[in-house]
Amino acid sequence: MLIERTHPTNREPDMHQSRRTPATTRFHSTSSPSRLTDCFELKLTSPLIDPDCSWGHVAAVAKVSPNHGSNLPYALAEIRVADPYVDADPATHRTVNAYIAGIEDRLRLDGFDPTVDRVEAMDSSEWNPYTKAWLRSKPVEGLAVWRTMVPSAEALLYLTNPQVGTVISNRRGDTATISPETVAHFRFGDDAIGIRDRGVAMGYLLADHFAQQGGSAPLDVLSLASGTADPVIGAAQRAVELTGRAIRLTVADIDGRALSMVRNNAVRQGFGGAVRTIRTNILDPALPDVLERDTGVAHFDLVENMGFEEYLPEDGDELGAFRGRGLPQASAFTRRAFDLVKPGGALLSGNMVLDRTQSDFVFGVVDWPLINARSEASIMRVYERAGLLGDPTVKIEMFRVRNASAGTHLYNIVKATKPDTSTRPARVP
Ligand SMILES: C[S@@+](CC[C@H](N)C(=O)[O-])C[C@H]1O[C@@H](n2cnc3c(N)ncnc32)[C@H](O)[C@@H]1O
Repeated sequence: MLIERTHPTNREPDMHQSRRTPATTRFHSTSSPSRLTDCFELKLTSPLIDPDCSWGHVAAVAKVSPNHGSNLPYALAEIRVADPYVDADPATHRTVNAYIAGIEDRLRLDGFDPTVDRVEAMDSSEWNPYTKAWLRSKPVEGLAVWRTMVPSAEALLYLTNPQVGTVISNRRGDTATISPETVAHFRFGDDAIGIRDRGVAMGYLLADHFAQQGGSAPLDVLSLASGTADPVIGAAQRAVELTGRAIRLTVADIDGRALSMVRNNAVRQGFGGAVRTIRTNILDPALPDVLERDTGVAHFDLVENMGFEEYLPEDGDELGAFRGRGLPQASAFTRRAFDLVKPGGALLSGNMVLDRTQSDFVFGVVDWPLINARSEASIMRVYERAGLLGDPTVKIEMFRVRNASAGTHLYNIVKATKPDTSTRPARVP
C-alpha cells in the first residue's frame, strides 16, 4: 500500500471554519438546561462492544415506480441496507431512539423552531444549552471529546465504524474512554445508521459499476472531500474482491488531520491497493491541474463526493445552509466533479433528504452545522442545472438509501454515468 501526502494548500474557503458568533441565539432565551436532564436516562439491554461486528450489506435494490410522479428522465430505486448493529440488537436500537425522541420532544416544548433556530445553531461558536445538557447527562463518557470533533470527518469515523477504538482523543489533546452508552449512540442513533448505510450503498454502487465493466486495467477512483476515507476504502476493497482488478485510490480533503487517519483506516480494512492523499481545497478551479500533477491522472473511472454536495447552496433550496458565503452553487461543483470522470465512468454524490427523522437532534443538540437537506425534486434540480439531467447521453439514477430493519431513510445517492465513447449512448429511462 502506497500513501503519499502532497502539498498543503491555502485553507480558504473551508466551510467548516466559517462559523460566526451572533449577538444572541433563541436557545438562550427559551430554554433551561436543567429541565432537560430528566429525559437523559439511557438503559441498555445488551453488551455493545462487539469486535466481530462488520459493515452492513445491501439486502435488496428495488426499482421505485412510477418515478415519483416526475417526468424528468431519471431512474429512481431504493437500496435497502442490512445493518449488523440494528439487526443484532433491535431492543437497544429502540431504547436509543426513544431517548433521542424524548430530547426532540423537549426541544419542541421549549419552542425550538427547526427552520430558524438551526440557522442560528450553525452560526453559534458556543455549545447551545441543549448540547450542554446532553453532554452533562450521566452516561456519556467520551461523548464530550467526540463532540469537540464535530463537524469534522473524524467525528463521522466513530459513526461509520463504532468499534474504531475505546479511547478517543481530539486535536487539543483531551482523551477519554468511550462508554458503552456513548457507543450506543454511535451505533443506534438514526443519523449514525444513515451515515453508515450511505457508505454501504456507495460501496455497493461503486463495486457494481466496476463489476458491469469488462477489462483488467487498474481502476482510478477519486474521493473528493474524503475525510478519513473510511467508507470509500471499504468500497474500493469490495470492488477489488469482486472484480479482481487493482484500484488506485486518490483521496482529497482540506483537513490534514482527517487525511492523516487514512493510512490506519486502509490497514484496518485490509485494503491492498494504492492510496494517495492530497490536501487541497476541492472548490479551487485549479483542482483538475492539482490532481493531474500529483497523480498523473486527468480523468477517473469513478469519482465520489459523499457528504459534500449538500454543504453547497443552490438557488431555490428549501434550507438556506451556507448561502451567501461565496461558495459555488452545488450544480457548478457537480458539473466540475463530473468533468473529472472518464468516458464510461460515473460520479456518485450523496444528499441528505429533507423528509428525515431526528433533524432537531442532529442540528439542535449534536449541533452539526445546518446542511442543505433537499427534496428529491431539489436534488434533481442540481443535476438539471449542472447540465447532466436532460443530456440524453448521460444516465442519471437516484437511489434512496433505506435501512432494511429500522426503515431509516436519510440519504439519496445520485449516480451520473458518462457515455462510453467506444459504444452507443447510454439508455435513458
Ligand atoms: C461530511 S465530511 C464527508 C467525509 C466522507 N466523504 C464521508 O462520506 O464520510 C465533509 C468533508 O469535507 C471536507 N471539506 C470541507 N470543505 C472542503 C474544501 N473546501 N475542500 C476540501 N475538503 C473540504 C471536510 O474536511 C470533511 O472531511
